[in-house]
Amino acid sequence: MNRKPFIAGNWKMHKTIAEAVSLVNAILLNLPDPQEIEVAVAPPFTALAAVAEAIKDTPLKLSAQNLFWKKEGAYTGEISPLMLKDVGCEYVIIGHSERRQYFGETDEMINKKVKAALAFGLKPILCVGERLEEREEGKTFEVVKRQLLGGLAELTPEEVLKTTIAYEPVWAIGTGKTASPTQAQEVHAFLRNLLTKNWSKEIAQKVRILYGGSIKPENIKVLMQEEDVDGGLVGGASLKAESFVRICNFKGD
Ligand code: PGA
Repeated sequence: MNRKPFIAGNWKMHKTIAEAVSLVNAILLNLPDPQEIEVAVAPPFTALAAVAEAIKDTPLKLSAQNLFWKKEGAYTGEISPLMLKDVGCEYVIIGHSERRQYFGETDEMINKKVKAALAFGLKPILCVGERLEEREEGKTFEVVKRQLLGGLAELTPEEVLKTTIAYEPVWAIGTGKTASPTQAQEVHAFLRNLLTKNWSKEIAQKVRILYGGSIKPENIKVLMQEEDVDGGLVGGASLKAESFVRICNFKGD
């Protein structure tokens, strides 16, 4: 198994353009070896162009946090995959629990977004994860299965290979409560097994499955020791260069 670890910073609705540029400039000073670890940042839409310019010719990758599935048209307020490609994005986060919870995104909509991203050459980071009550009711596997297979429905093997999965238990997001490495591993292994069953073992072994939910410099290392944890989607701790670069450099920290 040689999946390159991948750390992505999800800035959510934070940072003006000037703040965004100063944050990436600070991150660039301490990036890990790109041969060893891949790193991306996902600024808000308004800062994408400025961040794209600041990271030009560096190994730091650009991600968006969302997109709409149409190429263009009368969809006031939406951003298309073509526009994200045009601004320099390589990745796009899709189906984050905040989008599901506050903006009514369903697995069907998420699947359209995943397909649209792929059609325009963007790599989707598909988020799945159970809410606290679902975990307590013993429904974790059922929920993440529905989200994974719903989000990836009708994808070809080549398309699945371009996708990254992020397991983000909703009860661990922004709460300071991290899933234990064992809890994360259990779900990651389950997700990988679903990829094996629905596509192939070879594909399942290649797709990266990130963990997300209160990742900090203090807990990244133990999470990364788990066999099926291939990286992290980092929210709060990605807003400061100091904590984010410590997470990215977890191997040497
Ligand atoms: P957090 O957010 O690290 O602040 O918990 C993670 C996420 O929502 O991607």
